[in-house]
Amino acid sequence: MLFQYRLISRGLKFKHNATNGQNKKLSAEINIKGKNQQMPAPFKHLFTPINIGGMKIKNRIIMPAMSVNFGVDQNGYATSRLTEYFCARAKAGTGMIIVGGGAVDEIGKELPDLPALWKDGAIPHLERMTQKVKSFGAKFGIQLMHGGRQTCQDFKVAPSAIPAPALVKGTPKQLNKKEITQIINGFGDAAARCQKAGFDFIEIHAAHGYLINQFMSLNSNKREDEYGGSFENRIKFFIEIIKNIKLKTDEKLPIGIKINGKDYIKDGWEIEDAVKLAPILERQGAAYINVSGGVYGSKQLTIPSMYVKFGCFAQLAAQVKKAVSIPVVAVGRIKSPELADNIIEKKFADAVAMGRAHIADPQLAEKAYKGKIKDIRPCIGCCFGCIHQVFNLNEAICVVNPNMGREYLLNEKIKQTEKPKKILIIGAGPAGLAAARTAALKGDKPIIIEEKGNVGGMAKAASAAPGRKEVADIIDYFENQLEKLKVKILLNTPLNQKIIDKIKPDKAVIASGSLADIPLIKGISKTDMQICAVYDILLKKSVCGYNVIIIGGDRAGLTTADYLAEKGKKVVVLHKDKHFAQDMSANDRYYLRERLKKGDITLYKEATLKEILKDGVIFKYKGGGESTCRI
Ligand SMILES: Cc1cc2nc3c(=O)[nH]c(=O)nc-3n(C[C@H](O)[C@H](O)[C@H](O)COP(=O)(O)O)c2cc1C
Ligand code: SF4
Repeated sequence: MLFQYRLISRGLKFKHNATNGQNKKLSAEINIKGKNQQMPAPFKHLFTPINIGGMKIKNRIIMPAMSVNFGVDQNGYATSRLTEYFCARAKAGTGMIIVGGGAVDEIGKELPDLPALWKDGAIPHLERMTQKVKSFGAKFGIQLMHGGRQTCQDFKVAPSAIPAPALVKGTPKQLNKKEITQIINGFGDAAARCQKAGFDFIEIHAAHGYLINQFMSLNSNKREDEYGGSFENRIKFFIEIIKNIKLKTDEKLPIGIKINGKDYIKDGWEIEDAVKLAPILERQGAAYINVSGGVYGSKQLTIPSMYVKFGCFAQLAAQVKKAVSIPVVAVGRIKSPELADNIIEKKFADAVAMGRAHIADPQLAEKAYKGKIKDIRPCIGCCFGCIHQVFNLNEAICVVNPNMGREYLLNEKIKQTEKPKKILIIGAGPAGLAAARTAALKGDKPIIIEEKGNVGGMAKAASAAPGRKEVADIIDYFENQLEKLKVKILLNTPLNQKIIDKIKPDKAVIASGSLADIPLIKGISKTDMQICAVYDILLKKSVCGYNVIIIGGDRAGLTTADYLAEKGKKVVVLHKDKHFAQDMSANDRYYLRERLKKGDITLYKEATLKEILKDGVIFKYKGGGESTCRI
């Protein structure tokens, strides 16, 4: 029987100026200033300039549109917070940057805090942003979108009155022709405002199941008029939008397009459709085509988690590329410059959009340019900080980058400490390593002590489950950074008075991690079953038999169930709450649940453990009364 862990303080006690928990002041980050232009780029394909729609782009790295749900005021006007978020990426040399989710009308606004492009009042605010971001040499664009049936709002519109398959509720109103014309005009007017505000280019969002995609896909378009039925009719709305934009903007304004290569849903848009559409878009004057995939509720998600292979949509881009001569952009799980370079070298695409990689590390382009690959703070593909928060209508954050969205509050450089202090950091898990790095960057002298023989703490255990190796990337990053900063890490060194007397720290940070939550339940001391924590299994400190009962169905419990099922074990999971793994992002959980379906795993929710027997447990669960599970 295994117990998943929870965050329980180990209640360490010692004398000597201890600070309880991680010092908040230690969380500031550095911004590397300036660029070494003399340095040859190691990724020659990635750093070969490209001409896109008449724009000379200094490299092929694109920060794609990402709706972060922050950075606009109550009117939907861009603030300095949004500007600084983009400036941090522009400064580091990203070739093209695209603002996400610009709403062409109020009904089409996907999330509460997105740029309102239907108002003239937005222009001066956008202009302040474009001037600053462009000053760093990035080509700066904005995406124009209408969410259709996929918005957080109660009132929704769509080509047909069919609800979105997931994430949002409510049947949309079927658009009539007058409303269709209004939306087409809305796109054109919004594009004209964006051009006035100084954007170098615009991008039309025709992917991810939003309104244009809804018109194009048979799954969501059941119309019988000239906007439904045949392929030509279904793309008519899109083509009319492009024409309207062209009519209302200077012909030199490059118009980029984001389409799905595949919807991954029944009766959805397929790669054959994308390949057929691409030359039509080229003839309409598109500057580039970014090929993505997925809609709300699709089998393959648009923003896939760590379970999905890198470059997951690059094959789709490669097929579209064969059909056109304008640049094609690949997107989806491209986080390393090596892969990005490879995609271009192998002619899968002409440029790469690296989304979450830019959230995790604003200096991605600069570090890639200098070949400082190990200095890139890796996105771990968890989706928990970024898209999960956004879909819960919170601001996007990042699990590995606490400064995401706080760039406007941070100084260029970390403030150096006047009197360097010796800081004892207890625990070499992610929190301890992060605290030590920041302390060292401030000029303090951190020393980490760790009672185990390795760094990484629970992140090491978490990364041992199938498909979750990427979690350890952040540990490798910190280890490398601490080595460069010459931070001492004393392994196999438990905390005790002797070590405190020896080190004599001025301050201490407790980052000692979590322990298994093993409840005192009737029978626990008399059972013949082996009892251990999930991390004992994942770290191979214990081996269990064929039948396993896991108490707790959060991330730790379920990923361990997956680990054991993969090894051929029969697993029962008893989870006390209504929903499993609420400590995971919905995107990450989706792939895990798919995996769990394949193993010999039985899941019980709202299950209360009543008694532990010699060879099993008695438990109660909702809908099933009292049951006994023997192993
Ligand atoms: C927080 C967040 C918001 C996003 N918002 C948008 C958006 O507004 N428009 C869009 O086309 N794609 C959006 N995306 C999808 C990304 O542009 C990109 O297609 C996806 O994240 C896969 O690329 P990646 O693996 O490099 O992150 C968003 C992604 C994230 C993480
Ligand atoms: S929250 Fe997770 S998936 Fe999102 S950018 Fe950060 S590390 Fe990547």
